[in-house]
Amino acid sequence: MKPVVPYTEERGKKEQVAEMFNNIAHSYDFLNHFFSLGIDKIWRRKAIRMLREEQPKRVLDVATGTGDFALEAVRMNLVSEKIIGVDISEGMLAKGREKIAQKGWEQKVELRLGDSEQLPFDDHVFDGVMVAFGVRNFQDLKKGLTDMHRVLRKDGTLIVLEFSKPKKFPMKQLFGFYFQGVMPAIGRIVSKDRRAYEYLPESVKVHPEGEAFLQILQECGYHNCTRRPLAGGIATIYKAKK
Ligand SMILES: C[S@@+](CC[C@H](N)C(=O)[O-])C[C@H]1O[C@@H](n2cnc3c(N)ncnc32)[C@H](O)[C@@H]1O
Repeated sequence: MKPVVPYTEERGKKEQVAEMFNNIAHSYDFLNHFFSLGIDKIWRRKAIRMLREEQPKRVLDVATGTGDFALEAVRMNLVSEKIIGVDISEGMLAKGREKIAQKGWEQKVELRLGDSEQLPFDDHVFDGVMVAFGVRNFQDLKKGLTDMHRVLRKDGTLIVLEFSKPKKFPMKQLFGFYFQGVMPAIGRIVSKDRRAYEYLPESVKVHPEGEAFLQILQECGYHNCTRRPLAGGIATIYKAKK
């Protein structure tokens, strides 16, 4: 099966994903909250609560983007130490750093350029690794999940929040219409990137979800892998231990 990429089959997915997020960074936060009617914030909080149960001290937010997940974790006092976020898009990170500066939270969150498939950290240094709406965009999913496993300490926890596909009527039909019709049309106008909001449903469609994703987590070395579907299956939180 051909990989789903933002622009062209001639270039690698990673390079194109970084370019796409650089292109849409200016409107990313607005469209995220607009399209989800703010529900994405509730999902992030649920995911953070699931990680908080494990009482982590050092946490890494992979594919941090504009830092919404990391900032929410700070707001919810997830850790006493600084949260580190990494992303391959400088444009998204720049937006995130603006938000951190506005809040004066430079001592609480730090955003760095970094690739999930080759994380710039030693082995076994984080108690928790979290990633929201990121894994679907990885060029090599297993490589990303394996490298996150490497930086987790023994018994550390991975939390993944990602879109999935509702299976039942009427959510399935409504989701299809909204995701493949409404969002690309509005996204194109507001983000000024024709492909970004077409790539979104395309990438969700081919992304392994549910039991298949749990299986991949196990193949990457995780155990006690569980999932929690949200909003009739529009998104899923996966939790796994090292
Ligand atoms: C949909 S955004 C999610 C951002 C943020 N986590 C959130 O919840 O809003 C996906 C992010 O994944 C990043 N990304 C994709 N592949 C990556 C990789 N290999 N390493 C690090 N970040 C990556 C993109 O640059 C983008 O900022």
